[in-house]
Amino acid sequence: MSILKELELDLLKIIENAGYKEDQLSLEPSNRRDLGEYQLNDAMQLVKIYHQNPREIAEKIVKELEKDDRFTKINIAGPGFINFSLSDQYTYEFLNKMNQDIQANIDQKGPRKIVIDYGGANVAKALHVGHLRSANIGEALKRLAKLLGCEALGDAHLGDYGRPLGLVIKEIKEEFPDLPFFDKNYTGDYSEVELPITNADLERIYPLASAKAKEDEDYLEEARNLTSKFQNHEKGIYELWKRIIEISKSDIKKMYDELNTSFEIWNGESDEMAYFDQLLKIYEEQGLIEESEGAIVIPIAKEEDTYTIPPLMMIRSNGIKSYDATDLAAILERKENYNPDEIWYVVDNRQSLHFEQVFRAARLVNLIDKKVNLEHIDFGTMNGKDGKPFKTRDGGVMTLKDLIQLVYSETYKKITNESIMEEEKPLIAKQVAIAAIKYADLLPYRGTDYVFEVEKFTDLEGKTGPYLLYSTIRMRSLLTKADGISANQITKLKGLTEKEIALILLNLPSIIEKSFDTKSLNDISEYLYKLTSAYNKFYSENRILTEEDTELKESWIVLTNIVYRVNLLLLDILGITIPEKM
Ligand code: ARG
Repeated sequence: MSILKELELDLLKIIENAGYKEDQLSLEPSNRRDLGEYQLNDAMQLVKIYHQNPREIAEKIVKELEKDDRFTKINIAGPGFINFSLSDQYTYEFLNKMNQDIQANIDQKGPRKIVIDYGGANVAKALHVGHLRSANIGEALKRLAKLLGCEALGDAHLGDYGRPLGLVIKEIKEEFPDLPFFDKNYTGDYSEVELPITNADLERIYPLASAKAKEDEDYLEEARNLTSKFQNHEKGIYELWKRIIEISKSDIKKMYDELNTSFEIWNGESDEMAYFDQLLKIYEEQGLIEESEGAIVIPIAKEEDTYTIPPLMMIRSNGIKSYDATDLAAILERKENYNPDEIWYVVDNRQSLHFEQVFRAARLVNLIDKKVNLEHIDFGTMNGKDGKPFKTRDGGVMTLKDLIQLVYSETYKKITNESIMEEEKPLIAKQVAIAAIKYADLLPYRGTDYVFEVEKFTDLEGKTGPYLLYSTIRMRSLLTKADGISANQITKLKGLTEKEIALILLNLPSIIEKSFDTKSLNDISEYLYKLTSAYNKFYSENRILTEEDTELKESWIVLTNIVYRVNLLLLDILGITIPEKM
């Protein structure tokens, strides 16, 4: 159990000893530090249950608090708010406990198994900034869930099943009509056929095909047919489709690697669709399938709906199995293969209706146990200064590669440390760029849109990734220099700044819990900044390594070590790597 939880339970016991029973403590860090470090508001809450004067209740609680030497400066303010501070001795004690094991000071949430769907990159198409947020938020939530004792499995859920692939195949057919994949009479081994196409070609082909399809109805029609053909495993087209996936997948993996994002499960929509027939049968048997203008749908509207929920599309009138169906099939697949307690979908908020449809359809037939939590963890968009989703200068979709490049050129320019050699710069600039992007992306509550500002995100000052990296590296270098000094315990601290750091550290488990409950990284991101800037204030106020009072010096080194390790832990949750130097 975390030290904070222990303290809270003890406070509940103290209140009980005063004669009042409660399950929920109302404790807050005080914003009037002159009155005390914490404010206990329970006397005010208890009035409603015990119908006594709040001051009277507060006085009784204070009497009990005074018996406990962990608390000092106990006083009552206003009608019955209790203020108190933590004694020095207790402060040293909990810091030393934290120093022994930081992880042990984090309350566990497991065991539970969570499949997190946060990839969604589309095969044969470049990743764009929308995929960036899924990757950042999803990867961080996965790391957080693991830290809290859950078994968390990331699923890449690649988009490999829809019309874009049909378009790509159509364009390949235009450019290379003689490939054996298009020859019905070919009897050879497709795996021996050479395909003269690289990933860069694919990224050129898709936009071209999509533009052609807009102009040319026949072209589009054939792309649709080809989509239906690979979906139905038609000889030749199916093999070509598989080869395209192979080419594209290795590039997608590289891209996710750059973002420190990795998946335990590398499924594509097509793997989920292996369950389609089984899925369709379940709905058919219960009479829940309808035909509507040539399409096969599952009606899901309810009488009490206040807005229109269109039926879930299974097969379109043109024979193509729909995007809705892929997510419904995925539920079945995940139940069979992983039997999770929860499935989280980290996908932008424009897909809310889609997930509502999928979840409703799933619940209609208990496709997965009622107890299993299906949750759309939605997020807002990264916008340009015009308030619209971030685009390239000429208004095109910003690819992730271009975005990283944009930030990289800025972080590269900002490397001023002369001890960094020319050949070391690219890696460092890349790591700092990724930190800048990730931190800026995780800092606002996930539901809010935010504006992309390369200057601001890469600044060495303020709430930025580079600031956190720089500060953490400085802590590390201090610890390296202090290597010969034996520092094991905190026995003495001097000023208010150190106390501030201690209180921030004590609060760590509550921040982590809050992030997990809201499934948003903003609290952890804000906390990192708060802790780091408190530490930097302390750093600038003192000369740690040349301090003459050895007891104080050793305590300061231990304090630095704790802050450093908390930073490492939290930066790692955010998926941020710390460069060797900066
Ligand atoms: N491939 C989709 C897209 O790029 C995102 C997939 C999101 N995840 C899901 N399970 N539907 O829009």
